[in-house]
Amino acid sequence: MTVCASPASPTVVAMNPQNASRTAVVACLSRAIHTRTDPLVIHADPWGDRLFSAATWHKVYQFARMGNPQLPEVADEAVVRSAVSMGLRRGPAYPNMIVRSRYAEDALHVAAALGIRQYVLLGAGFDSYALRMPSPEVASVTEIDHPATQSVKQHCIAQAGVTLPGAVRFVAADLSTQDLAAVLAPSLPDPRAPAFFSWLGVTMYLSEEANLKTLRAVAATAAPGSELVFEYVDQRFFDAHRALTEAESALKQTLLALGEPWICGFDPAQLPDVLASAGWSLLEDVADTALVERYDPQGLNGMKPWGLGRLARVRVRVHVGVSGPGAA
Ligand SMILES: C[S@@+](CC[C@H](N)C(=O)[O-])C[C@H]1O[C@@H](n2cnc3c(N)ncnc32)[C@H](O)[C@@H]1O
Repeated sequence: MTVCASPASPTVVAMNPQNASRTAVVACLSRAIHTRTDPLVIHADPWGDRLFSAATWHKVYQFARMGNPQLPEVADEAVVRSAVSMGLRRGPAYPNMIVRSRYAEDALHVAAALGIRQYVLLGAGFDSYALRMPSPEVASVTEIDHPATQSVKQHCIAQAGVTLPGAVRFVAADLSTQDLAAVLAPSLPDPRAPAFFSWLGVTMYLSEEANLKTLRAVAATAAPGSELVFEYVDQRFFDAHRALTEAESALKQTLLALGEPWICGFDPAQLPDVLASAGWSLLEDVADTALVERYDPQGLNGMKPWGLGRLARVRVRVHVGVSGPGAA
């Protein structure tokens, strides 16, 4: 699949279709569609409209046709964009892809006002914070992602003719196999200062072991006071004895069709203990339904989250014996 937009030649960019995470493309497009079409903009991010080529829209269109066979196989640009926009807006995880970015960036900006100036995105995908840099208080942005997705993103940015600020750095790492602690410490501009981490739309694709390893690695490497916002799926989604709701079923089918099925969730009741054992204190754990209500209390966008998506905001626990009471 060609995923990058080129101002000179929007459709002729040779990239391996298997390279970039498809769900990362869909998430970025969804945020652009939200910014352009929803009556109440919860998260303003138009970058999906700039980064992706016409060929990418066509690829997503073919995917949308699977859910709506009445769409013609061959369609012009306007039909493609409108069908993709409608298809993605109807998707069960569409609200989640919007509210998680809003939640993380709100928390980042609160942390930045309190002096945490380094932002690290784990599994950054096509997140556009580095392209927007909306807060002058955030001094550096470090994107850590699977090398396959990251190289395509860098290519897309270059093809869009954008020069990133020097405060942005990219670090390629496969979180399912690599030791994050080893790549993290040298990646931060100031490893001794606290950092703010986001980890959105990733935990569900990793094994439980890889997730815990990542949590432990960040807690052990990041300075005390560092914070993390991460998205996770309520473990009930994976309960084989529980009947799936219509939205859950649709979501499962969509993920299978995209070739990126979810494999891991957490039990919200056990989350504080799981986090504590990995070096974190839980500050907030909130359901997707509550977040949509928080940001759009009047329901102007008509967003109906699928229900078992959650966001947690956590802080590195004080390393007792190092910086805790009684430390030498
Ligand atoms: C659904 S996308 C989310 C992207 C972005 N955080 C967002 O919210 O739009 C999942 C991201 O996880 C990354 N990812 C999946 N498996 C990974 C792995 N083993 N190591 C590193 N990144 C991984 C993908 O490359 C992709 O960027």
